[in-house]
Amino acid sequence: MLPQAKRLNDVKEYYFSIKLREVRSLIDQGKPIINLGIGSPDLDPPETVMDALKNADVHGYQSYQGLPELREAMALFYQRYYGVDLAFKDEVLPLMGSKEGILHISMAFLNPGDQVLIPDPGYPTYASVTKLIQAVPITYALKESNNWWPDLKEIEKSDLSKVKIMWVNYPHMPTGSNANQQLFEELIAFGKKHQILIVNDNPYSFILNDHPKSILSVPGAKDIAIELNSLSKTFNMAGWRVGMVVGHKKYLNAILKVKSNMDSGMYYGIQKGAIEALSLSSEWFVSMNKVYKKRREIIWQICENLKCSFERESSGLFVWAKIPANTNSNDLSDQILYNHDIFVTPGTVFGAQGEGYIRFSLCMDENKMKEAFQRLNKAEIL
Ligand SMILES: Cc1ncc(COP(=O)(O)O)c(C=O)c1O
Repeated sequence: MLPQAKRLNDVKEYYFSIKLREVRSLIDQGKPIINLGIGSPDLDPPETVMDALKNADVHGYQSYQGLPELREAMALFYQRYYGVDLAFKDEVLPLMGSKEGILHISMAFLNPGDQVLIPDPGYPTYASVTKLIQAVPITYALKESNNWWPDLKEIEKSDLSKVKIMWVNYPHMPTGSNANQQLFEELIAFGKKHQILIVNDNPYSFILNDHPKSILSVPGAKDIAIELNSLSKTFNMAGWRVGMVVGHKKYLNAILKVKSNMDSGMYYGIQKGAIEALSLSSEWFVSMNKVYKKRREIIWQICENLKCSFERESSGLFVWAKIPANTNSNDLSDQILYNHDIFVTPGTVFGAQGEGYIRFSLCMDENKMKEAFQRLNKAEIL
């Protein structure tokens, strides 16, 4: 066997890749598992989107930058919902999901040994991709007492001279915390002061959130910030793999240098579907959020039964629940899985600051959630 590359020494297989294998094997053994772990929308995409896919009849390689109509639809979407002007010719780059963008951005701007500021708790991919390209993740703690916002004054106490990128993610996964305009302004000022590229990962701004925000709405933001966005959660298209990175062309050109050497365009039908989705009226969000609100009520009841506390004013696809003081996240998650056949994610998957929390996904049918409620209601937990 050839030894694997050194860059893999510090990188583990993605948590959900491992855990969902285990969950599937439990299901194969006949266990009636209810999966409240993963944020993959179970609802259908809009019908017009599926029609566009069915009617697609072009099968050749597609443009590395995506169809101009797709970029235009993305730019119009940003103008309509975030009030941000983007030149569709060179300030919008469609991606196959925002997750691939995390790698492309990292490859475009980091050299081995460069440092990267990463939120804890946060999406695990920021740190693993940083390690994959032999840069150094430096986590910054997000605390409930500070609304899960970065404490920039605290971060500035460290030497930031090697830091090239700071990942931020508002609405925040897993906590559901939202940024306000002031936080975005402070982040932009921080990026400019220290010459750190601020990347806001923004896939949740239409889920249980009345005021979608983009970091690019801060005047002058394009000088030092770019943003990832995604159709995965916004239009229930996670398996389609459509996202985007938006911002100044000098940044996007560097990302395109990476991307155009890694794939050969996105299937035409998917791009046509994405154009339809992005052109829908805001009624779409109202109807989708009605479903999530009802589901969230049931999860809140489950949390209350488990003596977990939670924030009602939160956005995104999850309920982030603080567990009782005498318990630990992994043990509680295991106990719920092995004794009650319900999978919830331990907070530690998202970093050390996630200890003391578990995360419930809203991507599950209401009846199944009620069943989970019944199972846990009867059960002796803790
Ligand atoms: C914070 C965050 N960023 C990015 C992604 C990736 O989304 P996409 O489907 O667009 O690749 C996810 C998916 O769960 C996420 O939670």
